[in-house]
Amino acid sequence: MASSIKKVCIIGASGKLGRYMIRHCLDRGYEVVGVCREKSVAKLDAYKDRITIIPGSTNDREVIRKAVRGCDGVLTVLVPWGVQQYSTGTAQAVLDLAPPDARMIFSCGWHITRDGKDVYTKKLLWFAAIFGRLAKLARFADLNDQVEACRRIFASNRKWTVVRGSDLEEGESQGLPVWSHHVGDPILASNLTRRIDFALFMVTALENDQLIREAPAIVGRLSASAMAHGAII
Ligand SMILES: NC(=O)c1ccc[n+]([C@@H]2O[C@H](COP(=O)([O-])OP(=O)(O)OC[C@H]3O[C@@H](n4cnc5c(N)ncnc54)[C@H](OP(=O)(O)O)[C@@H]3O)[C@@H](O)[C@H]2O)c1
Repeated sequence: MASSIKKVCIIGASGKLGRYMIRHCLDRGYEVVGVCREKSVAKLDAYKDRITIIPGSTNDREVIRKAVRGCDGVLTVLVPWGVQQYSTGTAQAVLDLAPPDARMIFSCGWHITRDGKDVYTKKLLWFAAIFGRLAKLARFADLNDQVEACRRIFASNRKWTVVRGSDLEEGESQGLPVWSHHVGDPILASNLTRRIDFALFMVTALENDQLIREAPAIVGRLSASAMAHGAII
């Protein structure tokens, strides 16, 4: 079947996840538009002849309006940096301005819950509580901003997927991560995914209609828990 995806916008293209997503998109023959902060444009030098780069803040609605024009898919790296509702502004701009039928894939971590049925380890709860408090105090990051961004996405009837990443590591691809509906499901216990494969899951989701309005929590397909319990997909 011919691909429904031809042109993709990557919002937050200059980060580690963003650059892996560029690679996967180019491998698939997609036309790529990347948005990144002005000061990070040089991080995309390796791709500057193969993609269109739009410098600007990812929560700037005029930047997003221009970047998503004509795109069939939008991949958004949601980050909670700063205390100016950067994530929420970014998510809202994408939800409002992406073309009506566009597939929209957003990244976040396991700490985001859609239905409150995720079961977290004490370690993760402590980390979120302590990091969250210290980061906000230092005005460095606001985890609640990512929570609010995802709340708005979950409430939307657009074609979204929120991919919830486990802890990440660098390394060669192990292939498409496996996923489950809830953190705490045994298949996810290893809590580790290669970053390149997180990006692969995001890009592959563009063409997977079964993931529309899902919030998959992912883990590396060669991790011990994935091997022990088998995959959903
Ligand atoms: N790191 C983890 O262990 C982990 C675990 C699970 C899920 N995730 C999720 O994975 C995604 C990306 O994580 P990553 O660790 O791989 O990082 P990353 O790809 O390096 O992405 C960081 C992004 O944040 C942007 N950024 C950095 N500082 C910023 C600031 N002050 N204001 C606005 N934007 C800023 C970067 O843009 P510039 O290039 O312009 O700096 C880049 O686009 C996020 O959605 C995160 O929730 C991460």
